[in-house]
Amino acid sequence: MSNTAKFDLDGTVYEFPTLEGCEGEKAIDISTLRSKTGYITLDDGYGNTGSCSSAITFIDGDKGILRYRGIPIEELAEKSTFIEVAYLLIYGHLPKRSEMRKFSDMLTENQILHENMKHHFEGFPDHSHPMAMLSSMINASSCFYPGLMGPASRDRFDKHAARLISQVRTIAAFSYRKSRGLPITYPKPAYKYTPNFLHMMFSEPYAEYEPKVEVLRALDLIFLLHADHEQNCSTSTVRMVASSQANLFASAAAGVCALWGPLHGGANQAVIEMLQEIHTSGDDGRRFIEEAKDKNSGKRLMGFGHRVYRNYDPRAKIIKGACDALFKALKISDPLLEIAQRLEDAALHDSYFVERKLYPNVDFYSGIIMRAIGIPTEMFTVLFAIGRMPGWIANFKEIIEDPKSRINRPRQVYVGPTLSHYVPMAEREE
Ligand code: SDX
Repeated sequence: MSNTAKFDLDGTVYEFPTLEGCEGEKAIDISTLRSKTGYITLDDGYGNTGSCSSAITFIDGDKGILRYRGIPIEELAEKSTFIEVAYLLIYGHLPKRSEMRKFSDMLTENQILHENMKHHFEGFPDHSHPMAMLSSMINASSCFYPGLMGPASRDRFDKHAARLISQVRTIAAFSYRKSRGLPITYPKPAYKYTPNFLHMMFSEPYAEYEPKVEVLRALDLIFLLHADHEQNCSTSTVRMVASSQANLFASAAAGVCALWGPLHGGANQAVIEMLQEIHTSGDDGRRFIEEAKDKNSGKRLMGFGHRVYRNYDPRAKIIKGACDALFKALKISDPLLEIAQRLEDAALHDSYFVERKLYPNVDFYSGIIMRAIGIPTEMFTVLFAIGRMPGWIANFKEIIEDPKSRINRPRQVYVGPTLSHYVPMAEREE
C-alpha cells in the first residue's frame, strides 16, 4: 500500500498521508486538505468517510465479520452474557471475577430512579411512544446527578456508566407500565439484569412474573447482539454530542433519538408491522417483494439491507437460530415467522436483492423473538436502545479519554442564494 495519496488539483499535485487500520482498513488522512488546497470533500451519508479511529468494534461487511474488542460475535453469543459484554466493550477486556462482581454490584446499587422522576412519567399522555419517553427521561434523570456536569473523572465515569446501563432498563419498564396504565414495579436487588427487566415489565401486584430459562437466554442474547456496531447512525450521534463535551446522559439521549428512525433501530418495529400487513392482506409475500422492488411504492423490505454488510449480517444468523430454538423450547409457532422465512428465501433468490447485496440484518428476526417473549411491538426499539447502551458508553469514553479529541464540525457545499439584501415589508408584493 502506498503511504501517500496524490491529488492533482488545478495543475498542482498535493500529497496526503495514507494509513492502515489493524484489520487492513485503508484511509487517506485529509485533515490538511482544505488548508492546503481550499477544497473540501463531499460524501453524502458519510458512506466513504471515517469519522474517527476506534478500538471498540470491528466489522468486515464483505465477509460478514463482527468482533467486539477482537472477540467474534459468534463466540460471545455462545459463551458470554450481556453484562459481561457490556464490561468488555466499555473497559476493553473481559472482566476478572472481582471486576465482574464490582460491576454487577454497581448496576444493582444504581438501578432505582430518583422518586421525583415519577412526576415526569405522570406528565406523559397515555400511549406515548416509549422511545419519546426514554430519550426525555434519560436527559431528565441527569438533573438528579449534578456530578454529571463536572469534569470527567474515572470514578465519576464508572458510576455514571453503571447508572445509565442500569436505569435505561428501569426507565424502559416504567415507560411500558405507564403507557398501559399499569402500576410501576420496582427492581428486585436479588435479580440480575435481564430477569429484573422482565420482572419490572410483567410482574403484577398479585402475581410475580416467572420467566422461563429459554426466555431469559433469548432476551439476554438480543441485548448482547445489539451492544455495539462501530460508527452506525446513533453511535455517531453519541460521539457528535460527546465531542462538544456534553455529559454522558445528554449524549445517550441523543443516541436514542437517532436510533428511533425506521431506517435504523426503528426497523425492528417496522419489520413486524410489515409482516402483519402481509399476513392480514393474505399475500404470501411475493406481492410485497414486488412492491419493495418498485421505487414508486414507497415500500422497502424492512430488516433487509445494510450500509456496511454486503453479506449476511452475522447477528441475523444468530438471532434466526435463537428464534428456532426458542419456538421449539416454548412449543409455540408464529405465522409471522413463516412469512419472514418465505420473504427471506424469496429475496435471496431475487436478482434485485442479490445484485444490490441486500441480506437480512439484525432487525429482520429480532422482533419475532421479542414477540414470542411477549414484548409489545412499540417497545422493540427501546430494547434495541437497552442493548446498545454499552456501545454508546464505550464510544463516549473513547472520546473523553482521547487527548486529541476535538469538537465535530463538518463542512458543507453551499448551494443557496448568493448575496441578497433585506426588502422592507412595504416594498414586498402582497
Ligand atoms: C440497523 O449502521 C448500522 O450498523 C446499523 C445497525 C446497527 O446495529 O446499528 O446495523 C442497525 O440500522 C440495521 C438497518 C435497519 N434498517 C432497515 O432494515 C430498513 C430497510 N433497509 C434500508 O432502508 C437500507 O438498506 C439501509 C437504510 C439499511 C441502508 O441504506 P443505504 O446503505 O443508504 O442503501 P441505499 O438506500 O442507498 O440502497 C441501495 C439500493 C437502492 O436501490 P438503487 O437506487 O440502487 O436502485 O438498494 C435498495 C435501494 O432502493 N435498497 C432496498 C432496501 N435497502 C436498500 N430496496 C428494498 N428494500 C430494502 N430494504
